[in-house]
Amino acid sequence: MTSDVNVRAAFRFTERCQRRVGTVLITGTTSGIGRALLEHYVESGTRVISVNRRRIAELECRYPSVRFECVDVRCAEDVDKLVRDLAASGQLPELFILNAGINRVDNDESFQLPVYREVIETNLYGVLNFVQPLTELPAVHVRRHVVAIGSMASYAGNPYGLGYSTSKKALSACFEVWAKMYAGTDLVFQQVMLGPVRTAMYTMADKFPAWMVWTRNLFSASLEAAVRAVSRFALTRKSRLVYPLRAFPLYLAMWLGQALVPGFFQGRKTLDGRARRAGGSPRPAR
Ligand SMILES: NC(=O)c1ccc[n+]([C@@H]2O[C@H](COP(=O)([O-])OP(=O)(O)OC[C@H]3O[C@@H](n4cnc5c(N)ncnc54)[C@H](OP(=O)(O)O)[C@@H]3O)[C@@H](O)[C@H]2O)c1
Repeated sequence: MTSDVNVRAAFRFTERCQRRVGTVLITGTTSGIGRALLEHYVESGTRVISVNRRRIAELECRYPSVRFECVDVRCAEDVDKLVRDLAASGQLPELFILNAGINRVDNDESFQLPVYREVIETNLYGVLNFVQPLTELPAVHVRRHVVAIGSMASYAGNPYGLGYSTSKKALSACFEVWAKMYAGTDLVFQQVMLGPVRTAMYTMADKFPAWMVWTRNLFSASLEAAVRAVSRFALTRKSRLVYPLRAFPLYLAMWLGQALVPGFFQGRKTLDGRARRAGGSPRPAR
């Protein structure tokens, strides 16, 4: 029995080693999860192509083996050119980790369309811009994994950051379709439903009560654990990773609260606690 388990574990280990990634492209490596992924892959001897919207000398000096591309993921033409140039030179990676993302307050005192648009263009189109050229390129014998870094906010979002939750929801819907549509082909679409991870990403923590921030921190994963989970997942053909699983009940409770409890985290008050549209009173119906 024990030897059976050992053999299976050894087989899985060998399989993982054999499936080591040759080249990975990661978007948004200047900080947080993207930077930690870059460090992880460099240490494991994988070739890394890093896509950032700005150049950071410190980062580029520290990782001379990394190919740094300065591209804003919102620019469809630039992303398209990058993917096609990589394909033309035979350097198209086997793994794309589309991680770049932002979170903004876009729906507090009033709905702010330009801010909402910026979030959608980064979190949703910043991923979709890679998918178009990848699906247009001819099929090959190499398995190519496209991993989108989504969020558990797709299940229950913060109403004040409407662009964030709706971009991640749309991203998730797209990847669900592509995972099935391209099943068994050279393109493997995968999504990570990420819960809270300790990074510097803007979370509006200063605007919420301490107990909310404390609960979020309690369910947060460390950066190292998140990177381990994402990189292992990217070696599989699984279409979805929910990580950290322990945070899932938190989002489920939030979803239930928003659905069943009037006023529960529905943004009825502004972030600084004022009643919405105070001063106006609807005319009685005639
Ligand atoms: N941290 C969490 O709790 C959490 C939870 C769920 C999901 N996620 C997701 O995980 C991903 C990474 O988040 P993080 O926490 O590591 O945040 P982060 O530290 O703020 O990193 C975001 C990265 O995206 C880059 N970026 C933003 N806009 C870009 C653009 N237009 N073009 C290219 N790069 C751009 C940023 O570059 P600049 O330095 O130039 O801004 C930065 O490198 C995001 O997609 C986020 O939604 C995070």
